[in-house]
Amino acid sequence: MSTITLPRPDDWHLHLRDGAMLEGVAPETARDFARAIIMPNLVPPVVRGDDAAAYRERILKALPEGSDFEPLMTLYLTEKTDPQDVAQAAASGLVKAVKLYPAGATTNSDSGVRDFDKVRGVLETMAEIGLPLCVHGEVTRPEVDIFDREAVFIETVLDPIRRKTPGLRVVMEHITTKDGVDYVAAQGDDMGGTITTHHLIINRNHILVGGIKPHYYCLPVAKRETHRLALVEAATSGGNTHFFLGTDSAPHVDAAKETACGCAGCFTATHTMPLLAHVFEAEGALDKLEGFASRNGPAFYRLPVNEGTLTLEKTDQPNTWPAKIETGAGPVTLFDPGFPVHWHVKR
Ligand code: NCD
Ligand code: ZN
Repeated sequence: MSTITLPRPDDWHLHLRDGAMLEGVAPETARDFARAIIMPNLVPPVVRGDDAAAYRERILKALPEGSDFEPLMTLYLTEKTDPQDVAQAAASGLVKAVKLYPAGATTNSDSGVRDFDKVRGVLETMAEIGLPLCVHGEVTRPEVDIFDREAVFIETVLDPIRRKTPGLRVVMEHITTKDGVDYVAAQGDDMGGTITTHHLIINRNHILVGGIKPHYYCLPVAKRETHRLALVEAATSGGNTHFFLGTDSAPHVDAAKETACGCAGCFTATHTMPLLAHVFEAEGALDKLEGFASRNGPAFYRLPVNEGTLTLEKTDQPNTWPAKIETGAGPVTLFDPGFPVHWHVKR
């Protein structure tokens, strides 16, 4: 039996939703993770500091008794966002990042940004105070092929924004391409990149070959195998500390996934750490899991590494999970890696 012990990991990109869904999924993340950056794409979105404070209270209420899980709140950037409100929410310690959704890019992104000149003031304030901008890095122009949207975003949106706003600290979230890997790796320490669990495991064939698999559909959509290999290399090589874990665990009830126009999102909160141990071990890189899941994220966000630990052990018996978890909002199917996983979190 092999075991590995890490400082307790964090999830730097997580959807917890609200109401009955929040109650159903919050314990799944709180079991293994100490903290998570909480996405603000609720309906209506978490726009102002007051909204984030109220949402944070609802999250804390949804946690199992005795849990010390800490939600790290974000604000949803709109063209009307007030720089003063952002600065206050950051100064109070409540808000740890602002999230940029290009309008129309993904689930509940309609209130996102169309005209980047309208958010110039907010971005400049954020650069001054060192508050990170989390970016959903896809353009939404209909003429751009969905598999090219990340690469086009880097060239036409991300890099120009960063050049115009020196000092702005940016996380390119859920990168899915070699282009994203290469861009993030080449920048200075004001640039981070998160990688999801599922993008380390699936490529676009998993979604489309042998019948359409709605539970593998997420945004940004998984790309071809060469891109997956670039993500695995970035996460497991340990050569560049800009890369860290953001699961993008994005629960939708089965009825919203298994339908003619299904929602985007993979649910990985429950079993991410065993899945990652499998992926890192396969690369001979178990010793690099600690950087990816526990150290590089806090370093970017200028937060301490967690004091507690999490131990993973490998056994002959494969791990098992329920196919779905039942929430008050309905059943949510877990991401299926498609191979047996022998790693378990020691409880
Ligand atoms: C996310 C969601 O469902 O909110 N979906 C997804 O496929 N990742 C939104 C997002 O992060 O793009
Ligand atoms: Zn997301």
